Amino acid sequence: MPATPPLPVDLSGIRLDPGQGLARQLYQALRERILDGRLAGNTRLPASRDLAALLSISRNTVTRAFDQLYAEGYVEGRVGDGTYVTDLASERPAAQPLASGPAPSAALQRLQQHHLPPPLSGAPKAFRIGVPAFDLFPFEVWARLQARFWRKPSAARLGYGDPAGDATLRELVAAYLRSSRGLNCDPAQIVITCGAQQAISLCAQLLVQPGERVAIENPGYRAAGHAFAVAGAELCGVPVDGDGLDTAALAAIEDCRLVYVTPSHQYPTGVTLSLARRLELLEWAERRDGWIIEDDYDGEYRYSGTPLAPLAALDRQGRVLYVGTFCKIAFPALRLGYLVLPPALTEAFARRRAVDMRHSEIGTQAVMAEFIAAGHFQRHVRRMRQAARARLEALLRDWPAAIPGCAALPKVEAGLHLCVRVASLARERELLAAARAAGVEMNGLSDYWLPHSLEPEDARAGLVLGFAAVPEAQIAEALVVLRRAWNL
Ligand SMILES: Cc1ncc(COP(=O)(O)O)c(C=O)c1O
Repeated sequence: MPATPPLPVDLSGIRLDPGQGLARQLYQALRERILDGRLAGNTRLPASRDLAALLSISRNTVTRAFDQLYAEGYVEGRVGDGTYVTDLASERPAAQPLASGPAPSAALQRLQQHHLPPPLSGAPKAFRIGVPAFDLFPFEVWARLQARFWRKPSAARLGYGDPAGDATLRELVAAYLRSSRGLNCDPAQIVITCGAQQAISLCAQLLVQPGERVAIENPGYRAAGHAFAVAGAELCGVPVDGDGLDTAALAAIEDCRLVYVTPSHQYPTGVTLSLARRLELLEWAERRDGWIIEDDYDGEYRYSGTPLAPLAALDRQGRVLYVGTFCKIAFPALRLGYLVLPPALTEAFARRRAVDMRHSEIGTQAVMAEFIAAGHFQRHVRRMRQAARARLEALLRDWPAAIPGCAALPKVEAGLHLCVRVASLARERELLAAARAAGVEMNGLSDYWLPHSLEPEDARAGLVLGFAAVPEAQIAEALVVLRRAWNL
């Protein structure tokens, strides 16, 4: 067989699962690379024959994938000169119905460049990430409180409300954070949001000027990175080791005044930011006259080890913006979260919310306030922590002892997911493809890195498993399926 000629672009990272539609997978892999910038506008794609040889698939399959990309405007043909990636920033608006309309704003262009695939939806399955045990939510209690609120709502709460959120809920959140996290805050510092993601996005909108640098953990929570990128930030990935974000590497980034961190349970590696690093981070913010966004998305879930004080509780300079959410204790679709802000910022954040949406819908806020005030919330937190722990133990108990190319499971002290290292990217892809083909969900650690990360490709490989989404029996069943799928 003749040797495959070198390709004009590096597509060696594409792995296709022979058990699934190959053309569709190839189309998705190329589309993802175009949208996240790995395949820049005007890049010439390999000839279909060469790509087919590289991926060991038929030329017909490649042609079908290319056709779909053509149809959707991601690539274009140049007569006699092959297939090129469309320059989305300049071309995409021309494809809109108003061909002669105004040029797209820079914000719109950034949004087009930073497309984020939505999280998986539908009924939860083992080992979906980011999903708590919401099968245990006391819906009857919630329904009763909802009915009570709406049966006779106070007229004072039915007009336009405070953009920072319902006053009673803000008081209760402040009291909860004081007792559960040692975070001494005033209700006036709290702004209610539609979940942690909106809180992060508000920070991006108000603290980032286009072109400014923002430091984020790498690997890290990609949706936070997207919020900053859409606000025009230049993202700077900071490595994470066994003590969490590497503060020395952060300090080496010049002209950077904003960092986003997940200290209580780093997403996705699961490490806890050490106390020494917490103090270094606060010193960094003071030296730089900067800000720290502390995302405590799953802080309720700690099973062992001493919980460390949140950065916001250690902050003496008003540098930390603390992000919390009810979505990991109740359920994601609730869309309710909050920010605890340095006092000097609260007014600006509330005004920004008012511009966006006036304020969050009153029913959910009022019912959550009642849910907390009547003690249901604290009871539910305890129940959820126990359930997540029991589900974690079910996973640890039945996880196969020796999986070739896969490290042993780590000790898990917190959170709703765990991360296990895999020897190479090829092995990660193989394990993922077999698991997904058998109907078991899990994520690849390689997906959580910024494009163009310096770490060798194989050092980025791993599996990220959510363990709380389904009850123990379903976890045990999924592990039986997985053993078969992985030939163990
Ligand atoms: C690290 C991290 N931050 C924030 C969020 C978003 O949470 P919410 O559903 O409250 O927007 C998630 C969701 O998975 C997350 O993993």
